[in-house]
Amino acid sequence: MAYNINRNSLENHWMPFTDNRGFKASPRLIAEASGVLMKDHMGNSVIDGSSGLFCCPAGHCHPKIIEAVHEQMKINTYTSPFGTGHGASFELADKVSELTPDGMNHVFFVNSGSEAVDTALKITMAYHSAMGENRNRFVSRERAYHGVNMGGVSLSGMVNNRRTFPVVMPGIVMMRHTWTGENLNVQGQPLEGKELANDLDRFVQTYGGQTIAACIVEPVAGSTGTLVPPVGYLERLREICDQNGILLIFDEVITGFGRMGTNFAADKFHVKPDIMTMAKALTNGSMPMGAVCVKDEIYEVVTDRANEGAIEFFHGYTYSGHPAACAAGLASLKIYADEGLFERANNLSTYFLDAIFSLSSHPLVKDVRGIGLMAGVEMHADGNVGKRGGKLQKDLFWNGLHIKFTGDTGIVAPMFISENSHIDQIVEKLRKTLDAN
Ligand SMILES: Cc1ncc(COP(=O)(O)O)c(C=O)c1O
Repeated sequence: MAYNINRNSLENHWMPFTDNRGFKASPRLIAEASGVLMKDHMGNSVIDGSSGLFCCPAGHCHPKIIEAVHEQMKINTYTSPFGTGHGASFELADKVSELTPDGMNHVFFVNSGSEAVDTALKITMAYHSAMGENRNRFVSRERAYHGVNMGGVSLSGMVNNRRTFPVVMPGIVMMRHTWTGENLNVQGQPLEGKELANDLDRFVQTYGGQTIAACIVEPVAGSTGTLVPPVGYLERLREICDQNGILLIFDEVITGFGRMGTNFAADKFHVKPDIMTMAKALTNGSMPMGAVCVKDEIYEVVTDRANEGAIEFFHGYTYSGHPAACAAGLASLKIYADEGLFERANNLSTYFLDAIFSLSSHPLVKDVRGIGLMAGVEMHADGNVGKRGGKLQKDLFWNGLHIKFTGDTGIVAPMFISENSHIDQIVEKLRKTLDAN
């Protein structure tokens, strides 16, 4: 459906994470989308090289999702999730827990990745409180992105996301990030850097392990530009957590549902967390939804230790487990299974990574990193950090490619339905646009 643009019609919407003045002077609107392609408001084709914001592995406007949501909305558009329920949320929790690691079978629904992170923090607090433990410190990591709610901002290690917001949760300490800068253009997991996990041990030595509630990491740091964990790093975090009764939280908002070629990054790296957050691909991006999955013991401790008849966990959202989102989630997970999309992502990974790493010799490129179907292409800065990236993102769009940028790093994350030819087009458009810059 065409949208009639004039300057005034764009003014009232304050856009998120956007250069509003620049955008409104030169808008980039998507009029419609299907599969890997989008069409802008002037009818130009744009290939989606970041699956939206890492949301839509099965492609835009999947007819089965549209139909499932439509059918659901004909019979139930809303049920209060506090004290009442509807079948679709229970069915979806079953389906999600079929995909999560063994022993992680309890799923709490929210509406976004940010809400999932804040919920994970509160579950952690509720668990330790029920255990009678006084743990009030959280360990996060430099360059982390855990969404934009106050809990997530407190955990954030990305300076632009937190410097404007000085009032954050107390008691958070930051491990170093894992990009050492010594080994550039490493495909897959770097061999060096496992010892960086010992930062967690240093906090144990400094504050006492019994004061630390949880350690939260993105298994592959996504929004900062794809930092792949060194071999042995996540295993070492797990080990230190186990030694000290610290919960390990994997924020799988980007990595969950096949992005690594496995159900979750936990499966790819063979490290099982205690809590996992997820969102984005849970509904193939078609409906706002997130979830937190916890190991069974956490659910049991929090529920069994509450007084008989009492609400066990004082937390939830008006739209937790919304019927339309559940229908979209159920349809998405069915598509992933029926079309074997996680396996397809796994099979496509080598072709994708080889193609994207061919950019590493380009004079503007400083480093390429990648694993599964996700890669970061970091450019040399041109003066201020982000100046070159901002320009490239716009130029790429007008050259028919959508890529999410963070600073000077483009994050490429193709859809799982992509053909090799789509990967070729993404890399060719990137190369040509870099050549012209
Ligand atoms: C790891 C991680 N956690 C949390 C979030 C926040 O998700 P949302 O934007 O849905 O709130 C994101 C978003 O990119 C993310 O990558």
